Amino acid sequence: MTAVDPTPTCPHFPFGAGRPVELEPEYIEYRRNKPVARVELPFGGQAWLLTRMPEVKALLSDSRFSRQAMRGLSPRYLEDPIADEGGLPMMDAPQHPRTRRLLNKAFNRRRIETMRPAVRQIVDDLIDAMLTQDGPVDLVAEFGSAIPREVNCALLGVPAADWDHLGSLVDDVVHQGLIPQEQLVASWMALTGYFTQLITARRAAPEHDLISALTEVLDGDDVFSDEEIMMNAVVIFVAGYETTACQIVNMVCALLRDPDQMQWLRENLDRIPEAVEELLRFVPLTAVGVMPAKATEDVEIGGVRIAKGDAVYSSVVSANRDEDVFTEPETLNLRRGREAGQHIAFGYGPHFCLGAPLARVELQVALERLLTRLPGIALARPEAELPLKDGLVLRGFESFPVTW
Ligand code: HEM
Repeated sequence: MTAVDPTPTCPHFPFGAGRPVELEPEYIEYRRNKPVARVELPFGGQAWLLTRMPEVKALLSDSRFSRQAMRGLSPRYLEDPIADEGGLPMMDAPQHPRTRRLLNKAFNRRRIETMRPAVRQIVDDLIDAMLTQDGPVDLVAEFGSAIPREVNCALLGVPAADWDHLGSLVDDVVHQGLIPQEQLVASWMALTGYFTQLITARRAAPEHDLISALTEVLDGDDVFSDEEIMMNAVVIFVAGYETTACQIVNMVCALLRDPDQMQWLRENLDRIPEAVEELLRFVPLTAVGVMPAKATEDVEIGGVRIAKGDAVYSSVVSANRDEDVFTEPETLNLRRGREAGQHIAFGYGPHFCLGAPLARVELQVALERLLTRLPGIALARPEAELPLKDGLVLRGFESFPVTW
């Protein structure tokens, strides 16, 4: 085991501005020469950065790393310390497996597959609305963001009349750090208050939605409290919103950059599920990685000693380009087949994305309907001129004007 001394000066991370569809070239060098590297974070402190598939998977499945321990004055990439409102991503065992076990009874593949027709209807309605307009349409506002907002509302059982109101509250929560603190607090209170009322209503008169199902889950004699259902509903909505919104548009951008592959996909729509897996691998979503974790004891990863108390960032977007796992990883290849399925765009281990089956349905349906109904889709302005999302966490466009 090599003990690596943290040096006072080390490279700054993240490596670049986090442009959508592109991955900073530094990752290639890190995977090759420094797969377990010491980096300096923007808002204080140093951390370890993992960039290759084996080390990232090892960390994400190792219970000696704690997310709870990241609270407070840890090394961090955001200005504010990580807020812990009691949500899944920050939980450790035994609280985390217990919550996932209960959630899985209600939020599972069976429920998601029944949503496919509703997702298709939502997507087609949005395209209908776009087609009534003359000029360029912003694919972010009118398609990418609208799909997860409406799908999440439908999933949770939010009445259609409240979709816009709830969507704007969630918008504020996902843009924390970029809006005034009072507005954030007011939106958070309104959001949690809304779900608390919805839970009371569904306990009295259950429907076929996820909130009703969560009030009924039973594991032995274990059940969710109303407070837990409210928190899980908010986490599901927030975690499934900006991620999917950014990736729908980023994936369209990746296809527009590669007209031959886009044309091939349009002629082979039955290959959409496989193409979406390759797009998930290739199109990097996060600018930094998944939730960081802290070592609760000395641990060796990739031959390097991570000392107790050290923070570690795992770059799933870099692991998805690992040369030892993927052939020509820097190339988008929609016909990559089974190899693409080895990506970890939805994470790995106990915190694997709860909403992955729903995200897949949304991405598959969105791309299939767009390729079919807008065959002439094109960017209305050069990509380099488009404004990007502000913030260090996700890569995305602020707007993406298209014609067809
Ligand atoms: C393209 C879309 C999406 C991507 C790329 C994505 C990616 C991820 C990743 C990488 C993680 C693991 C993070 C970690 O280890 O901390 C995660 C967790 C999570 N995702 Fe997703 N996600 C997507 C969509 C969704 C959707 C649609 C939902 C729900 C409607 C959702 C709900 C969640 C939840 C609740 C967690 C926390 C799981 C836990 O900590 O146990 N995600 N997601």
